Amino acid sequence: MNDFAKVWEKIDAEHADIMVALNRARVIAAESALSAAALVPVYEAVVRKFEGHFASEERALAETRCPDADSHRRQHQVLLIRLLSICQQMRGGQSIEIEQLQLIFQSLLDDAIGADASFRDYLTSATA
Ligand SMILES: [Fe+2]
Ligand SMILES: [Fe+2]
Repeated sequence: MNDFAKVWEKIDAEHADIMVALNRARVIAAESALSAAALVPVYEAVVRKFEGHFASEERALAETRCPDADSHRRQHQVLLIRLLSICQQMRGGQSIEIEQLQLIFQSLLDDAIGADASFRDYLTSATA
């Protein structure tokens, strides 16, 4: 496996790791009847995973000289603002709205199958 393929493999492993954390959070949401006290720390931990993933992906964008790096970074900033504002809303309430959870799941999809699709194409075409 060449270096670019390894870069993509690492990114995909991070997506899978976030998905595992999100699924765990979904189970806790169901078991706690959407209690904010139970869920806020769980979702804050998920948001920290997103932050770590975006930072690692942005290093990879720079190292591989991806031409879409600037717009991809801006997309990460928008997603992080969305995630941090959802956490802030959660902290201010007694219970969590199901729409807030759906937006957090959507954030992973927006990154993994949205912004990252062109990065994956760049990495795989550059290795062909
Ligand atoms: Fe990603
Ligand atoms: Fe991304």
